[in-house]
Amino acid sequence: MSNATLNLNGKTYELPVIVGSENEVGVNVTKLRGTSGAIAYDPGYGNTGSCQSAITFINGEEGILRYRGYPIEQLAKQSSFVEVCYLMVNGKLPNQAEYETFKNTLTRHTLLHEDMKKFFEGYPRGGHPMAVMSSMVTSLSAFYPESDDPEAINLNIIRLIAKFKTLAAFAYKKSIGQPYIYPRNDLSYTGDFLHMMFAVPAEPYEVSPIIEKALDMLLILHVDHEQNCSTSTVRMVGSSQANLFASISAGISALWGPLHGGANQKVLEMLEMIQADGGDYSKYMDMAKDKSSGFRLMGFGHRVYKNFDPRALILKEAADDVLSELGKEDPLLDIARGLEDIALNDDYFVSRKLYPNVDFYSGIIYRALGIPVDMFTVMFALGRLPGWIAQWHEMRNDPSMRINRPRQIYIGEGARDYVSIDKR
Ligand code: CMC
Repeated sequence: MSNATLNLNGKTYELPVIVGSENEVGVNVTKLRGTSGAIAYDPGYGNTGSCQSAITFINGEEGILRYRGYPIEQLAKQSSFVEVCYLMVNGKLPNQAEYETFKNTLTRHTLLHEDMKKFFEGYPRGGHPMAVMSSMVTSLSAFYPESDDPEAINLNIIRLIAKFKTLAAFAYKKSIGQPYIYPRNDLSYTGDFLHMMFAVPAEPYEVSPIIEKALDMLLILHVDHEQNCSTSTVRMVGSSQANLFASISAGISALWGPLHGGANQKVLEMLEMIQADGGDYSKYMDMAKDKSSGFRLMGFGHRVYKNFDPRALILKEAADDVLSELGKEDPLLDIARGLEDIALNDDYFVSRKLYPNVDFYSGIIYRALGIPVDMFTVMFALGRLPGWIAQWHEMRNDPSMRINRPRQIYIGEGARDYVSIDKR
């Protein structure tokens, strides 16, 4: 493909064009400021490619999502979370021996340093688990300092995947005042997480295979989503060569916001609010369309998907299946379906290409699995972890990587003289 040409102030600039393996086209503006003095202006980065990546492909117009080339639909149905973790971190699917070694290594690193338990004691009972997770993950760097040795970095990657679920379950136990339950090596990754969340010392606990399988699928659906807000944050922080734990901790904080991963909690709270208000969802649809109300339909819309979110399609079907397998009914599912039906036929939502996203139905499934509402975004983080790690690792090994440092267009005051305080 030939270069792009930019005409600016009567001069012509040649800008190189790069093309990805799925024919995605990018205009390389890295030299633009040096040659023309102008920068590329793109608030919200909706049109900015910040890196080249071989991890995840999304085509938002056609609703395509693939991890390392594998369609999300196939991975969600046929793979396991641990296998997808291997795929993300190593770039290929494991053979049987590689899978067993990876799984066993993960199992052997699930314990937390006993001193870390003291941190949990310091948090207030009702503290949000995302706050706890973000600070506990960055604290891991005090226990496992980073070196430049690739083997040491790989070990920290394993530690982080293994310990994250223990941290998440301990954060929950702390929030309800129950004793911590230690990991069990005979259980699967997801089964062990459920056991640490829901077992109590006085009683036997059996992991339900239905819940284990459903949770595994949910985690797979959240694994990666290319350069979204939290992943870009991980790369941004990591670009200063901050260590793995510090970079991921920043990603957890970015994910927490209600426009990103925090939306799953907000969706459920919204559905509960509509239910408590008598179930009149058309009133809330009107509010969502009225900008002055400040109300948005949570779980709707996406920066990239402008047709459908393939994860939401899988989850809508899974919500039905999981509820019926568990023999549960949930009136919130009916409200969600009702909202979706109205939105899909309403000109406001249709014209803006607003469809249910991954967060719209996931909360209903988490609720059916017994996951408390303020743990929903922690579940998103647990799923997103291998994606963040793969993106951080790819960035670290990219020879063209530079510290991330955007420019700006200054719109403030011109130069003026300082006036001392007694003269103002
Ligand atoms: N309800 C009502 N109106 C909406 C919504 C919504 N959920 N989302 C977007 N719009 C309107 C928005 O007001 C704007 O209208 P107009 O053109 O008249 O000004 C138009 O649609 C475009 O919206 P935008 O805010 O410019 O789009 P964006 O790409 O900046 O934001 C979004 C994407 C996901 C943040 C946004 O759709 C939103 O706030 N959704 C609700 C929160 C949510 O569900 N977030 C989870 C996203 S998926 C999980 C993840 O990856 O994080």
